[in-house]
Amino acid sequence: MKCRIFGLDFKNPVFIASGTFEYGLTYKRVSNRVGAVITKGITARPRIGNPPPRIIETPCGLINSVGLENPGVEVFCQEILPKMRKLKTRVFVNVAGFTVEDFIRIVEAIGDRADGLELNVSCPNVEAGGVAFGRDPEICAEVVKQVKKRTKLPVIVKLTANFCDPLVVGRRCIEAGADGLSLINTLHAMAFDVKGTKVLIQGGLSGPAIRPFALFCVHRLKELGVPVIGIGGIMSGRDAYEFLLAGAAAVEVGSATLRDPYAPLKIIKELKQYTGWGHDAG
Ligand SMILES: Cc1cc2nc3c(=O)[nH]c(=O)nc-3n(C[C@H](O)[C@H](O)[C@H](O)COP(=O)(O)O)c2cc1C
Repeated sequence: MKCRIFGLDFKNPVFIASGTFEYGLTYKRVSNRVGAVITKGITARPRIGNPPPRIIETPCGLINSVGLENPGVEVFCQEILPKMRKLKTRVFVNVAGFTVEDFIRIVEAIGDRADGLELNVSCPNVEAGGVAFGRDPEICAEVVKQVKKRTKLPVIVKLTANFCDPLVVGRRCIEAGADGLSLINTLHAMAFDVKGTKVLIQGGLSGPAIRPFALFCVHRLKELGVPVIGIGGIMSGRDAYEFLLAGAAAVEVGSATLRDPYAPLKIIKELKQYTGWGHDAG
């Protein structure tokens, strides 16, 4: 199950997605056996996140509105990253900026202390009227360009598919120097409290409900010929294998770990039955 992506060796192509597994320190047995752990989104300053409700179940998925709760990059680097480095897995930091300057500040603070960076371009760009970075190919390319100037680590851009074509944005990110792409992030979603006749939650939809669309998006990026990490509703080895068939070099598992923290281990075991695999994704 070993694979080589962005010039790095991974013990298998099943990674933990950002946001549902904190920093991989609670279930170390799981973290130590996946190919990589991607951290919760790290911002330049600490964030307390959104008020409840933060998670609502929907048919075949969930809507979350966590609001990027995290201690900020300084505390992350001092207190959390050193513990993560003791895990027997690759560590990628999910970098969440609200301005280009934020991205630079976070990446500079991390230095070379991680194995790679996943740029979360789904946050609203406060310098451009709150429109998500991820929808604008030129702003994404600028973020990549600035980040690549300041790091030697592999840089993946985590694309959104909300109101934009990930192929167009992905192509510009690669032209600007990104080493790979991951997708999809959650889809815009909301639910109403019908008794109270008000909005119950507005946030991001994840889980099996988004899987067929995520597969389509991953497949669409095949023509770019770069490593793509598939994300969206992976619950089983079969689901993961479908993403590999769609052209993904690896997958990330998110919501499944909320139902069962050991799900990634089951997924690895099942995936082995589909392929007995020595894989070089470039
Ligand atoms: C509770 C929760 C928190 C998340 N936090 C982040 C985050 O901090 N940064 C990020 O890039 N994605 C975040 N995501 C998105 C996931 O990493 C993933 O892209 C998405 O949930 C789709 O995969 P899944 O269906 O396997 O969960 C979060 C998702 C959930 C459910």
